[in-house]
Amino acid sequence: MDQAEILSEQLRTLPVRAGAAVRLLQLLDDPDVSALQLAEVIETDPSLTGRILQLANSPLYGVQRGVGSVTQATVVLGLSVVRAFAAGMAAGVLTKHDGAMPNDYWEHSMATAAACSAVARRLRLDTGEALTVGLLHDLGAALLFRSDQRRYRMAERGARASSQPRVDAERETFGLDHARAGAVVLEAWRLPERIVAAIGDHHADPREVVAPLSRLVIAGDALAHATGTGTGTDSHSDSERSLDELLAIVAPGLISPGDVGALDELLAEVIERTSQLGACFALV
Ligand SMILES: [Fe+2]
Ligand SMILES: [Fe+2]
Repeated sequence: MDQAEILSEQLRTLPVRAGAAVRLLQLLDDPDVSALQLAEVIETDPSLTGRILQLANSPLYGVQRGVGSVTQATVVLGLSVVRAFAAGMAAGVLTKHDGAMPNDYWEHSMATAAACSAVARRLRLDTGEALTVGLLHDLGAALLFRSDQRRYRMAERGARASSQPRVDAERETFGLDHARAGAVVLEAWRLPERIVAAIGDHHADPREVVAPLSRLVIAGDALAHATGTGTGTDSHSDSERSLDELLAIVAPGLISPGDVGALDELLAEVIERTSQLGACFALV
């Protein structure tokens, strides 16, 4: 087994937090699961209950009369968002206070989730899945970081110093990059294939990415970088390609090339959604 295989195996068997998160992931495997069954498990964990209720009542979902029960909240949010909560909790990356994470990880995940859902709404894609892929897209970075913080920081510093993409430095140091590491874990936890693929491909050449959800996470990631979160070397808006040009490839029709006003409006929406999301996930 080479280094990448050993690490992948460790990630697959990552000790997940016992309790509601793992039970939820198992339950979500059942295609006939009901909102009531999910709510029963969620309600065993007070902090998960609080976050789910707060998110369902946030302006992001615009529910007029208020969501009072967890059952109702799971219907408002949809299964993919409940799954994102469960996977994020199981991996220990859901809140700012969950263990060690690379610099800016949590803020950048919130911004990418906000950006993915804003773009999905405009392109009439599933906003729940958008939020999920945005929230979990860099999960692998937190896991690689935790596997060896010293080496991860060295790889990051080396990448910055030589203006090398972070994923290249990760591959040299760990044998696999954070996009692959995230996909390995989420696949082992049986998340839907398109979500696993979207996360695994989020640093691939955008011209070669065709699946709508995979393209969406590239667009959301770039927009999140444009709002000032994430490390520069993790960005697609690298060297020669501008944000405009990248969006024209992965989200055609979203912004007319050169329409600075429309792009500014979208970025303002992303910033607003980021703070709404952040308020839900920052709960202790
Ligand atoms: Fe990434
Ligand atoms: Fe990212």
